[in-house]
Amino acid sequence: MQEQRETPLWSAVAKHRAQSLYPYHVPAHKAGRGLLPSFAAHMAEFDLTELPGLDNLAAPDGPLADAEALAATFVGADATYFTTNGSTAGILASVLAVAPPGSTIILPETAHQSFHSACVLGDLSPVFLPVELYPELALPMGYTLSSLRKSLAECRPSLVVATTPTYHGVCSDSAAIKAVCREHGVPLLVDEAHGTHLLVSDTQVQSAVRSGADLVVQSMHKTGGALTGAAWVHCFNPHFREPLKRALRLVQSTSPSYLLLTSLDLARRTLAIEGAARFCSSRGHADKLRALLPAVSFPRDWQQDPLRIVIDARYFDMSGFALQQIMLAYGLSPEMADAYTVTLVIGLFESAEGLPRAAALARDLPRTTVIPKAQLVPYLSGGRLQMLTPRQAYFSQSIRVPLARARGEICAEPLVPYPPGVPLLWPGQRIEHEDISYLQALLAAGGNCIGVSPTGQILVIAGEDCE
Ligand SMILES: Cc1ncc(COP(=O)(O)O)c(C=O)c1O
Repeated sequence: MQEQRETPLWSAVAKHRAQSLYPYHVPAHKAGRGLLPSFAAHMAEFDLTELPGLDNLAAPDGPLADAEALAATFVGADATYFTTNGSTAGILASVLAVAPPGSTIILPETAHQSFHSACVLGDLSPVFLPVELYPELALPMGYTLSSLRKSLAECRPSLVVATTPTYHGVCSDSAAIKAVCREHGVPLLVDEAHGTHLLVSDTQVQSAVRSGADLVVQSMHKTGGALTGAAWVHCFNPHFREPLKRALRLVQSTSPSYLLLTSLDLARRTLAIEGAARFCSSRGHADKLRALLPAVSFPRDWQQDPLRIVIDARYFDMSGFALQQIMLAYGLSPEMADAYTVTLVIGLFESAEGLPRAAALARDLPRTTVIPKAQLVPYLSGGRLQMLTPRQAYFSQSIRVPLARARGEICAEPLVPYPPGVPLLWPGQRIEHEDISYLQALLAAGGNCIGVSPTGQILVIAGEDCE
């Protein structure tokens, strides 16, 4: 009974709050700065449900329908649908709405894990396009148009997916991708989970909503100023409207949070009215940070999200994981770290508070001039052997084996270095020696991988050693 007095999560979040770290991470309302004060102050009272006059997300015809219509007008979509289960629900619904069971979909090999779930649910076969790696830092970029053209000529997919921006802020040209898709009559879904703020960009780097894509999914909670979990799907192809609505009902809770829904409505208004001015001032904040810290510039073929900063930890002669710890000690809370970099999310509601802390860090940390090239290079899945479809793998018998002895086995559960939440291996794929070495080195360097147990075991298909 005594232990029932414990509240481990409450204790952890309270402790985190007490540290007063400056949040260079999502959600981009930045600890409430971007929320309407009268909403933020009365959250408990706004935690409502489908009461008279408050509409119903499953079949909206009142204020929710009006809020979605205003959002659609803002982005120029045929229709916009709110979700309270993040872009994950938007992606699941979009894929299920467009791709018939048994069909093939083209994905970047760095597609988010929600696409795996969509393949399991929709019985779809993924074809992965290799993405380019920025060699200095082994950072995944996007796929090339020529690899897309080649793949479209080889398979007859029901859907092409582009992920832009990536977690690290690498942007692809979604209009050019759409032009290639159009040549082949294949719809395009853009996973723009990280790019809501680009709706109000005053730079050349623009949101995919203007690219001609058929569907665009955005996590409003990441960079749009809404509460965590709030996202929306923009539909630009009237043909997909009804299937998308049905699919959203399939994957969403019947009790969507009114806090999240209300925050979507409010954040849309803020973006529409003050977004462009805020974007411009946040660029100023980002530029000041870039001047203080060794920020990465991506190769010229790739555009860079102006509000995402990737710090190259090699200049401090340490790993990204180690630099993240030091930043925390300086009162700065980054979005994520990997072996070589630390990523900061600059939102539309920054205060100047983070800058002196970053200046102190830059002043105190000695820099090196000998910059080693990245050794820890992920073996991505573009050329992998897909022995079973994700659905076959999901429903197969599986067993746990030590990662070290998994070579030649078929993966049964996504192996997902987190962050960024991009599967290194999908279920149904053969595990190669290079995967094992990479994961072992990543874990040894301080990284995490969902799917590897604390005792170093992974789930593989029983009786399917392909050696
Ligand atoms: C590229 C990408 N797509 C989709 C998602 C899923 O978004 P959400 O967390 O809103 O469900 C994420 C989450 O981090 C992501 O990084």
